[in-house]
Amino acid sequence: MRREFRTLYWRNSRLYLIDQKALPHRLRYVALSDYRQVAKAIKDMTVRGAPAIGVAAAYGLALAALKARGSDPLKVLERLQKAADVLRSTRPTAVNLFWAIERVMVRAEAAARDGDDVARAVLEEAHAIAEEDVKVNRAIGMHGAQLIRDGAKVMTYCNAGALATVGYGTALGVIRAAVEQGKRVFVYVPETRPKLQGARLTSFELKLEGIEHKVIPDNTAAYLMSRGEVDLVVVGADRILASSGHVINKIGTLSLAIAANYFNVPFYVAAPISTIDFRRTLSEVRIEERDEREVLEVMGRRIAPKGARAINYSFDVTPPNLVRGIITEKGIFGPTELYKLQPQ
Ligand code: MRU
Repeated sequence: MRREFRTLYWRNSRLYLIDQKALPHRLRYVALSDYRQVAKAIKDMTVRGAPAIGVAAAYGLALAALKARGSDPLKVLERLQKAADVLRSTRPTAVNLFWAIERVMVRAEAAARDGDDVARAVLEEAHAIAEEDVKVNRAIGMHGAQLIRDGAKVMTYCNAGALATVGYGTALGVIRAAVEQGKRVFVYVPETRPKLQGARLTSFELKLEGIEHKVIPDNTAAYLMSRGEVDLVVVGADRILASSGHVINKIGTLSLAIAANYFNVPFYVAAPISTIDFRRTLSEVRIEERDEREVLEVMGRRIAPKGARAINYSFDVTPPNLVRGIITEKGIFGPTELYKLQPQ
């Protein structure tokens, strides 16, 4: 069975998001009409995944601009600036969030300068970012699929699929594209503690697509590689540093990369150019730390004794020497040649 869905869409001046907290048991959309609701949805991971939170934030700005419509353009810009600050404060690591907000703000400022309708310009830009996302993911899929041979066993991590984007996905897009080319692909899906994006979301998507897969506990990955049962690893990214080639992605990615290198399994990262940070160096990146209850509980149920504490970094940093290549919409690049992709 094949069912396509959009992680988010805009209708009648509202943003509709799949409530990813309810998956895989319920596929339901929530309708948001205020940018503060969007900020909350990003923070509590109703919507998650680097590209998806960027697009959600862009639409959050559209909601703010529509509310301010009718005021003079400088007032609208002022309100937008405030909304942008709130949206930026939700999750610190995914560069797409900051990239999308900046892109919309540049467009809003230009519209205000030219005396155009700022709200319309902001909404147009949000739509453009959303439409580009799906196209870009398909291009990533096309480039990446050449790495996957017929009959391959591929490991991914977290959820870098349609749910982490507007549609199609990045790392899962590569797998989807290989399957669309008629290749048989088997996917290992690490469950991805503590939020279980692999077990809940990636497995949900693969099941809808009819792609053969098995969920594994995160600590099973290295053993499978040691047995020669993994041909390739492909993961997404929240931020890739052009300055050094470091890849920042879901906590546990570093362990997978180390194991993959030890056992000579090619380790690839699939990400759009909007995930590449051309400005910052590693010391300037903030790694999100989330509430320790996410670790001490599983799906809201306490598993550790009362009083136990936990460490809950949401992301880790994989050094470039562990990465065979970065699959982008413009082709596959070594992690230290990303400067070639810098938009002019
Ligand atoms: O905390 P999350 O679920 O937002 O983390 C998501 C990831 O780490 C993904 O791999 C990354 O955002 C790329 S999604 C195309």
